[in-house]
Amino acid sequence: MKANEVAELVPGVPKGLETGLHNYWYPILKSEDLSQNKPVSIKCLGEDLVVWRDGRGLPGVLFDRCPHRAAKLSLGRVLEGNLQCAFHGLRFDKTGQCVLIPWEPDDSASAQEVRARSYPAQELGSYIWAYLGDPARFPPPPLLDEVPEELSRGDEFLWFRMPTEVWDSNWLLAIDGGDGFHAVTLHAETQAVEERPWEGGKAQAASAPLAERRVKIVQTPYGVRGIATDREGKPIHHGHLLTVKGDRFILPCISTNVIRPVPGVEPYVSRLWQFPVDDKQTIIQRFAVQRATTAEARERWERLFQEVVKPRLQSISREDAVIAESQGDLVTARTHEHLFEPDLSMYEVRQRINDAFLVQLEERRMAPTRDSLVWPVKSTGP
Ligand code: FES
Ligand SMILES: [Fe+2]
Repeated sequence: MKANEVAELVPGVPKGLETGLHNYWYPILKSEDLSQNKPVSIKCLGEDLVVWRDGRGLPGVLFDRCPHRAAKLSLGRVLEGNLQCAFHGLRFDKTGQCVLIPWEPDDSASAQEVRARSYPAQELGSYIWAYLGDPARFPPPPLLDEVPEELSRGDEFLWFRMPTEVWDSNWLLAIDGGDGFHAVTLHAETQAVEERPWEGGKAQAASAPLAERRVKIVQTPYGVRGIATDREGKPIHHGHLLTVKGDRFILPCISTNVIRPVPGVEPYVSRLWQFPVDDKQTIIQRFAVQRATTAEARERWERLFQEVVKPRLQSISREDAVIAESQGDLVTARTHEHLFEPDLSMYEVRQRINDAFLVQLEERRMAPTRDSLVWPVKSTGP
C-alpha cells in the first residue's frame, strides 16, 4: 500500500497510527518491576506481551499467546530460563522458539516447528526495553543509538525515574499536550516561583495574582515557547529555558524539557516517553536528570530532586493527564479543535509522527534525531 492510499481515522491521522508507531525501542517496564521468576503481562501498542527474565537475568518479550491453544503465556512459569505455558507445558526461549513439548522426548524435532512471536529486548538505565516491530522488515538499530545518552553514562549523569503512569487518553493527545506554551497556564500554580535563589526546601510560589498573568509567545530554535509575565510584561519564573540544543520532540514519542525549577540552580532535563497501551490509554515513563560528576554535585541534585522536582513533576503530570483525559477520544478531540499560531510547533510534531508512520508503508524507517538524544543544556551556569 502507498502512503497516499491510507484511509484516515480523522483528518491528519492515518488509520493504525492511533495505536502507535511500530519498529522503535520502548521502555516498557522498570527493571525492578520484572523479577527473576515471575513473568509480567503488559499491553503496548495494542498488543498483549509477556516479559520475563531468562537464566542469565536477560529480558525476553513474546506475544502473550501460546501458539498451541492461545493461553496467555504470562500465566506460566519460568523454568531453567525458559517460559513454560501454564496450560499444557510447552516451553519457549527468548527468541520464541519452542524448546520442549513435555509429552515428546526432550530432543524431539517437533518442537522446532512451533514458535511464538518474539521481540528484541534489552535492559538499560534501569528500564526494560522492547523493540516493538517487525525485525525482518526493519532490523532493530542498536538500542544505544536511539535513547538519550544520559542512560548509558552513569558516571557523568544522575537520573531519577518517576513512577510509571497510565493515562486514560490516546497517546497522540498526550503528546499534543507537551506543547511549549500551555505550561504557563496549566501549571501556573505548580511551577511558577518567586525570583529568588533557592535555599532548600519547598520553593516560594509566585505571588503574582493569576488574574494578572499574561503569556508572551516567543519563537526559539527549540520551537514555540510561552513565557509567563505579569500584566506589565515582567517575566515570572517558570523555569523553561529558551536556549537549548536539539528538538523537544524525538521519535517515536520522547519529549525533552530543560528546566531550571528555581532560580540559582543548575537546570535539569526531563525526558518523557508517551506510548500507547492501546488507542484509549497511554503509558508514561519519565526521568529527570542532571549532569553531576562529583559527589557534591550528586548530593545537591538529589536534594533538589527530592525537595522540589519530584513533587512538582508529580503535580504537573497529574495536571497534564487530567487535561488529556478531558479531551475525549482522539476523533472527538481532533474534530473539536481550532488551532492558533502558537500551535505551530505542536502541529509540526504531528506531521513528523505521521511521516514516520507513512514512510514505513514504503519500507523506510525514520530514525530518532541523534543530535537531540545528547545532553541538550547549552550552558551549565545558573
Ligand atoms: S495452550 Fe500453551 S501449551 Fe497448550
Ligand atoms: Fe504540561
